[in-house]
Amino acid sequence: MRIAMIGTGYVGLVSGACFSDFGHEVVCVDKDARKIELLHQGVMPIYEPGLEALVASNVKAGRLSFTTDLAEGVKGADAVFIAVGTPSRRGDGHADLSYVFAAAREIAENLTGPAVIVTKSTVPVGTGDEVERIMREVASGAGAKVVSNPEFLREGAAIEDFKRPDRVVVGTDDEEARDVMRAIYRPLSLNQSAPILFTGRRTSELIKYAANAFLAVKITFINEIADLCEEVGADVQEVARGIGLDNRIGSKFLHAGPGYGGSCFPKDTLALLKTAGDNETPLRIVEATVQVNDARKRAMGRKVIKAMGGDVRGKTIGILGLTFKPNTDDMRDAPSLSIVAALEDAGATVKAYDPEGFEQARPLLPNVEFSESAYAAADGADALVIVTEWDAFRALDLGRIKAMLKTPLLVDLRNIYPPAEAERAGLKLVGVGKPKHG
Ligand code: UDX
Repeated sequence: MRIAMIGTGYVGLVSGACFSDFGHEVVCVDKDARKIELLHQGVMPIYEPGLEALVASNVKAGRLSFTTDLAEGVKGADAVFIAVGTPSRRGDGHADLSYVFAAAREIAENLTGPAVIVTKSTVPVGTGDEVERIMREVASGAGAKVVSNPEFLREGAAIEDFKRPDRVVVGTDDEEARDVMRAIYRPLSLNQSAPILFTGRRTSELIKYAANAFLAVKITFINEIADLCEEVGADVQEVARGIGLDNRIGSKFLHAGPGYGGSCFPKDTLALLKTAGDNETPLRIVEATVQVNDARKRAMGRKVIKAMGGDVRGKTIGILGLTFKPNTDDMRDAPSLSIVAALEDAGATVKAYDPEGFEQARPLLPNVEFSESAYAAADGADALVIVTEWDAFRALDLGRIKAMLKTPLLVDLRNIYPPAEAERAGLKLVGVGKPKHG
């Protein structure tokens, strides 16, 4: 199959690279000439484990190429994937579809034959209908079939998720378009049993939002249970295990923490609420989730302040991990942003270490001093706070940390250290949803 991938963001670049690795011929198109130039040099615009090697091997094999020229990219394509951004529109939280529609128009004008147009960007219900309308406006686009194929990959595990998905969702009622999609995803069904779920287009569009909203609800649920655990002397990790072993609940996404962030959950829950509002069908559970999660990120700053005795004026706090989760350099809606703001507002000085996030974090956190290592962030600080659970923080020498801290306090917002281990090192540990000691 010949595939054009419009947009080389997270989803576009990973999908393009993986499709080429399946053996398809893929051209990735982006308007950003600098990005394309970097990709030509083998430099990845994002940090994602394994991506650079995957891109390099497929470029070398002649199956993957990059261009700023959309017309050249879509020439002769069997399928054109739209994987451009759908950010929250400033002001109202609706998904901003201007990039999707602009891409659709340009694709329509440049098609050279019948093609399947696939929206991979996360788009609100009904977007496919609009893309189809745009196709019909131009003679060259009139024969195109418009399909929804949402992407469920997670940042940091993107290649693994793409190549071994739980399911592939394809939204179209058109049999020919289904055949093209079957051919594209055939390598997945050969090696393993990833089911392709064929649905109507609107259903497929909604599946993506419903999945993300459900996961956001699940995280937020366990976060609230964590708060209750702290009050009643229970342990949220044991509660999560105890409920997660019930297959109907499942053990994943039950890790209590400082609240979800990232490029998807915050934006997609808001967009879903807009769709619900427009259709006069309130989704109260999702509404509550958004509110609880926003409040939680701020509350985590107060939690640190409380653990430090209530007054942090003139104190220094070391932070480990700034990105919204490990194995990414993504700072979008990261809980660290709210936590640092709360600590600085209360008069503290913050220093921080993150294995990959510095470049993105620096402009967002202008008053933070960036440390060279986890130990440097602890050196001379009044407390050390783990905000993101990078693997590099899982086996720290706690004795060394204790010796470097002015006050032996470790606030572990991801519960990666058992209290006994911290105690042995002479550190006071404050976790999330843990019974209070002493
Ligand atoms: C998510 C979805 O998982 C993915 O299917 C979709 O395509 C895009 O959005 P991603 O944003 O990359 O992926 O990260 P994910 O691993 O899902 O984590 C999202 C946020 O939830 C992070 O801030 C993470 O720290 C938090 N989280 C996740 C928890 O706090 N607890 C958990 O148990 C799981």
